[in-house]
Amino acid sequence: MSKNHTVIFTPSGRRGQFASGTKVLDAARSLGVDLDSVCGGRGICSKCQITPSFSDFPKHGLVSAPESLSEWNSVEARYDSIRGLPKGRRLGCQAMIEGDVVIDVPPESQVHKQVIRKRAEAREITIDPAIRLLFVEVEQPDMHKPSGDFERLQAALKAQWDVTATASLATLRGLQTTLRKGKWQVTCAYHVPSRQLLEIWPGYFEGPLYGLAVDLGSTTIAAHLCELASGEVLVSSGVMNPQIRFGEDLMSRVSYVMMNPGGDVEMTKAVRAAINSLIGEITVQAGIERDDIFELVLVANPIMHHLFLGLDPVELGQAPFALTVADAQSFAAREAGLELHREAQIYTLPCIAGHVGADAAAVALSEAPDRSEDLVLIVDVGTNAEILLGDKHGVLACSSPTGPAFEGAQISSGQRAAPGAIEHIRIGADKEPRFKLVGNEKWSDENGFEQAALATGITGICGSGIIEAIAEMRIRGIVDASGLIGSAEQTGSARCISDGRTNAYVIYAPKEGPKITVTNGDIRAIQLAKAALYAGARLLMDKRRVEKVDRVVLAGAFGAHISPKHAMVLGMIPDCPVEKVTSAGNAAGTGARIALLNLAARAEIESTVREIEKVETAIEPAFQEHFVSATNIPHATAPFAGLRKTTPLPDVNYNTKTGKRGRRRS
Ligand code: FES
Repeated sequence: MSKNHTVIFTPSGRRGQFASGTKVLDAARSLGVDLDSVCGGRGICSKCQITPSFSDFPKHGLVSAPESLSEWNSVEARYDSIRGLPKGRRLGCQAMIEGDVVIDVPPESQVHKQVIRKRAEAREITIDPAIRLLFVEVEQPDMHKPSGDFERLQAALKAQWDVTATASLATLRGLQTTLRKGKWQVTCAYHVPSRQLLEIWPGYFEGPLYGLAVDLGSTTIAAHLCELASGEVLVSSGVMNPQIRFGEDLMSRVSYVMMNPGGDVEMTKAVRAAINSLIGEITVQAGIERDDIFELVLVANPIMHHLFLGLDPVELGQAPFALTVADAQSFAAREAGLELHREAQIYTLPCIAGHVGADAAAVALSEAPDRSEDLVLIVDVGTNAEILLGDKHGVLACSSPTGPAFEGAQISSGQRAAPGAIEHIRIGADKEPRFKLVGNEKWSDENGFEQAALATGITGICGSGIIEAIAEMRIRGIVDASGLIGSAEQTGSARCISDGRTNAYVIYAPKEGPKITVTNGDIRAIQLAKAALYAGARLLMDKRRVEKVDRVVLAGAFGAHISPKHAMVLGMIPDCPVEKVTSAGNAAGTGARIALLNLAARAEIESTVREIEKVETAIEPAFQEHFVSATNIPHATAPFAGLRKTTPLPDVNYNTKTGKRGRRRS
């Protein structure tokens, strides 16, 4: 007579009563314990490994003894001899319960493994991808019960995995050979959302399968190749968005479509070709085939999103900024002309609004403002800034047209952040600069700098460099609050030189070749960009009826390189304690990766996006008012009292028309 035994699983703490002879895997399943299995309990995959704990457990009121599990059986012995089982491990599908027992499920045997992200405040990613590998045994054909091989495969999947599956004609084409080759045992790649079998392998197959998370930006396209079962990022790479040749910013690309019939088709082709070549490069780097990639998740701003999907973006260039489709999209990669596995699937995150895209949705997924206890402002700084403000009581979103100045474009000595570009700069009380280059660890006043700089040269200033340069110039009184650079006479620095009707500050003057300077035109371009960013943030604060935020997160590849103090001196972001300003790196790319690796995250962001309150900056009169006041450095009216406590800003004025030439009031 079978008797009931107490079984406790750790680390979940789930417990239940089971009859003698119950398999550990079945007990785990009935308690909802996260124990993996690909082969359906046939002793092939070894995903179901468990570690029984044999000891006295007074806390649980039981003694877990070796006799509490059935003896090591021939299946386990065979597996151990071929592939090796770590000491103390059993196969959960073979070991049977014979007494009270405590069983540990090691992390690698959990289906929903957690990948811990590096930053403390960031969420963990639970690995639960949209594609599952299912091993099945299929009934052989029987003349007396005629049925198709696929129908018998469908029946086996239903009986053994409780899934209903379909398959394309291309997948069916190879089915008969595969079934016979596998001796009626096959492994299927099952795409849960579409219920499609993407591939069928003979016998037992455990991957690896790969997926790509793609962040399609106006300027660059970045992609991360991930192993779907482990979540590991194998290769991250990027290319320039070739659409730049049709226009630097989003609106000029929409204008291109308006002026050139068929321009949208041209741009769609260009971006898809660039993604295809990026995929080619990534597969070579990772040593895999395009065929090994089964899914691609893409995030982009609304115009890039539409152009990638082959949708006309013209309506997004004018009020009321109607999207063709806002919801998340799932479709076959071949429909978008992408060369991956022939059945590979694409998922695009939902767009929040006509100006706030799937990239902002991905930032919301990664940074989870909707779960935040304190009020957080998240700015994803790029050619277009996406701004989110909120906490667990609600989230608002808008986008702001900052233009390409932050990326070094429109800046006289500007360049992209490549080796040789000045990325950090400090100006001393004597108004002399020292700087650091991308790809060079030394500051320019350190021994060995010049030698190290020989390899790259000193070629220009990148976006983070120009922000630090202007902020440092403001701190040292070289530039006034209105953005005017003083003359050599006004500032007492020979580095301030005349530049037409205004002045420029020389950062670096080589013996030959062009000087690296900050001109008044550069400052103007940055003022406009930062004012747009600040005004967007301020508009959301108005809507939320708050005067301050608890913390600020700078997202985006560029956001990762901005110094919080300098961003604040410039007035890019509202006044906030500097230690409360953090960088999230490429949060949009991380959001894409979360959606690639965790199916539930897709439903989560789709519902979060519906809850986000959308604010359209282009039609809000208050935006213009905020923009005008925000062009000053740091701001015309906001006191920035917190900032001034730690970083005094000299009160100089270089506007000669006011008659206050170089006057210093404090
Ligand atoms: Fe595959 Fe146990 S479930 S070996």
